[in-house]
Amino acid sequence: MSYDERYKSYLELIEPALKSRFGEVRGFAFDGLLEAMDYSLTAGGKRIRPVLAMEFARLGGLEAGEALPVACAVEMLHTYSLIHDDLPCMDNDDLRRGKPTNHKVFGESTAVLAGDALQAEAFGAILRSSLPAERRASCAEILAGAAGVDGICGGQFIDLSSEGHALSADELSELQGRKTGALLSAACMLGAAAAGAGENALEAASQYGARLGAAFQIRDDMLDVISTESELGKPIGSDAQEGKTTFMSLYGEEKCAQLVEDITEAAIEAVRDLDRDGFLSELARRMAVRRG
Ligand code: IPE
Ligand code: IPE
Ligand code: MG
Ligand code: MG
Ligand code: MG
Repeated sequence: MSYDERYKSYLELIEPALKSRFGEVRGFAFDGLLEAMDYSLTAGGKRIRPVLAMEFARLGGLEAGEALPVACAVEMLHTYSLIHDDLPCMDNDDLRRGKPTNHKVFGESTAVLAGDALQAEAFGAILRSSLPAERRASCAEILAGAAGVDGICGGQFIDLSSEGHALSADELSELQGRKTGALLSAACMLGAAAAGAGENALEAASQYGARLGAAFQIRDDMLDVISTESELGKPIGSDAQEGKTTFMSLYGEEKCAQLVEDITEAAIEAVRDLDRDGFLSELARRMAVRRG
């Protein structure tokens, strides 16, 4: 199967599974909350985190249907982080995945709750899955690590508290590792852990994901300057407007491009023994030159 065919086959499983989570109107007083959750979860997006979870699960020998709840969980957690990231008290952005941001459509209080609920439902999806209890516990622990102080929340705190003053390169790497690298690493580890992979495969998943995450955030910072709103589906120039130190503001375009290339090769190296038909290498290379 080619890279494109495999990616598409994962999307064909992931998209309906996400749609069926909150898409149905239940006639309850909280339908408005479900609508807000569904709006952001099904607005599109590359779905690279659930795709990575599915691929690492496949490499570990797990059937796709068994991996799906874990794949959906990581996308739900990611979507929560985007809804909150766009809020006026955070990055204050109006466009996400080519559509008005959640708070623009549903109001700030609903957007906060939609994010909160998506985060809790992410853990619920793992814990209610049919995986053996020990694997469910490992997956929940991996996701918790990527969501909390050592992950998204810690990284977002550094990001926001640094607005208006320059960060050093070390501080920026620390920020990136938590805000973006931790969840990409977790996405890979979740798939491996769901499949009951051993230490070596988990370590390779963790390293590949962390390195992919580093390259991914540098590219994201580049795209905030060099892309267009229609290609990206989110505003450009947001980082400069909020006074952020980014890889672009620190290093400039040429050095960023070189870093992305080098770190991408390091990511590929981490899965050299695991990536039997080259899907993970191809994904990393495509992410390094993405426009959206
Ligand atoms: C955006 O993530 C946030 C970052 C970590 C840079 P993606 O670029 O994966 O966003 P979607 O899911 O495709 O919308
Ligand atoms: C946010 O990074 C990463 C998250 C934890 C959501 P950015 O603020 O750079 O993400 P975009 O550019 O808004 O997608
Ligand atoms: Mg942000
Ligand atoms: Mg943002
Ligand atoms: Mg960005």
